[in-house]
Amino acid sequence: MKKKVTVVGAGFVGSTCARRIVEADLANVVLIDIVEGLSQGKALDLMESAPVLGFGSKITGTNNYSDTANSDVVVITAGLARKPGMSRDDLLKANADIVGQIVKRIVEFSPSAILVVVTNPLDVMSYLAYKLSGFDSRKVIGMAGILDSARYRYFISQALSVLPSKVEALVLGGHGDLMVPLASYSTVEGKPVSELLSEEKIEEINERTKRGGAEIVSLLKNGSAYYAPSASAAKMVESILLDEDEILPCSAYLNGEYGIDDVYCGVPVRLSSQGLREIVEVKLTEQEKERLYASSQAIKENIKKVL
Ligand code: APR
Repeated sequence: MKKKVTVVGAGFVGSTCARRIVEADLANVVLIDIVEGLSQGKALDLMESAPVLGFGSKITGTNNYSDTANSDVVVITAGLARKPGMSRDDLLKANADIVGQIVKRIVEFSPSAILVVVTNPLDVMSYLAYKLSGFDSRKVIGMAGILDSARYRYFISQALSVLPSKVEALVLGGHGDLMVPLASYSTVEGKPVSELLSEEKIEEINERTKRGGAEIVSLLKNGSAYYAPSASAAKMVESILLDEDEILPCSAYLNGEYGIDDVYCGVPVRLSSQGLREIVEVKLTEQEKERLYASSQAIKENIKKVL
């Protein structure tokens, strides 16, 4: 039987994520939004592309949580997006209210679902979803590391004039200004980036990666990134539904791993049909450890503001 994925929020990130899931024939999708007609209109438009594109998955739009019942995976994208000059943390309180309401309804109708949290600030929202759902922490995972690493990989590929897919790279920590790009785990066809680019260039790319979201916000002027975020969330859904064993950086609940406790923070993980299979502990330098710790503590401060 086809799997069922609910995407909450039919805005830019949610509808693009839903589109990627049905076009890849990963699952049937229920798209739900608070605005009447929005998810229904987008779902119908997407279904009308099925004859042209040839996918067999179904997408339906709704405003009613009973239609989301028994979902295998729920992607939460509902909330406010950043406007120019706004930090992700400015969104904190408004989005905490929205995510809180949504989690309660999801738990009511899909008590066995795996939650993928995208709404920003997503490390905080993941913690909130974990606490309010009462789910095992392995069933609540935040999307950020794949996106931040993808930006990092793209910038490295540009600097070296190679295909983006040839670059492997890892960005850990919170999805914010304190994220930790790891040049030591960045390679191009197996070669460490440190052997291919100068320290200054790597530092410049690190900084651009940290500001990656803000760069898009300042260009769009009226909204935030959604193509790369939706691709990253869809990648998590794929990894969960297909039980892939790939290592992906995601926001996960840490319980002593990396010397960090009781917070959601970006680390390499393996996903499976049960949710988070394992947290992978890679070797870090002292400086990288300190930065990861600092990033996790900044998330903790924000958690205190909403819980
Ligand atoms: N229930 C369901 N949907 C809601 C609710 C709610 N309580 N509150 C808001 N929404 C919907 C809005 O109606 C809107 O359609 O969430 C959608 C958000 O879409 P956009 O404004 O287009 O925002 P988007 O760019 O998709 O970003 C959504 O993802 O990357 C993050 O920072 C980003 O937190 C933001 C989220």
